[in-house]
Amino acid sequence: MTERTLVLIKPDGVQRLLVGRILGRFEERGLKLVGLKLRQVDRPFAEEHYAVHRGKPFFEGLLDFITSGPLVALALDGPNAVAIVRSMVGATRPHEAAAGTIRGDLAVETAQNLVHASDGPETATAELALWFAPGELLDYDREIDRWVLAPAE
Ligand code: CMP
Repeated sequence: MTERTLVLIKPDGVQRLLVGRILGRFEERGLKLVGLKLRQVDRPFAEEHYAVHRGKPFFEGLLDFITSGPLVALALDGPNAVAIVRSMVGATRPHEAAAGTIRGDLAVETAQNLVHASDGPETATAELALWFAPGELLDYDREIDRWVLAPAE
């Protein structure tokens, strides 16, 4: 089932010069980039994005961190994109993230875990609507799609 999902390459990913490598992993997997922006968010926007974590002990620190510098928001499209991206990102706590995942290969701290990815299809729809205006997400075909995707039934 074709899905769309949101990935944030957080300020640590931008500062560590890992944007290209992280984005490249998703491209190489075969996911289609349908939205992309560099953005520094303010506190109210960050609170909305992370509303599910409001009241948790790490919430204020999380807001400080996510607003501390530019981040990159990606919209990715593909079959089962939500699950594929989650598996590529790895567990929230990098010491629990499998080697071969982004966090398992590139991160050591939970706060500085480089990426955020939508945790389910409903969350993905809501998060994409928060980060991208409708016209900012593109529909297009890629020449390689016949080598990556099963033919439409
Ligand atoms: P993310 O997937 O962006 O979702 C919420 C973020 O809170 C999480 O990744 C972590 O970067 C951050 N965070 C900081 N401390 C904790 C914690 N103790 N437990 C879970 N997430 C935390």
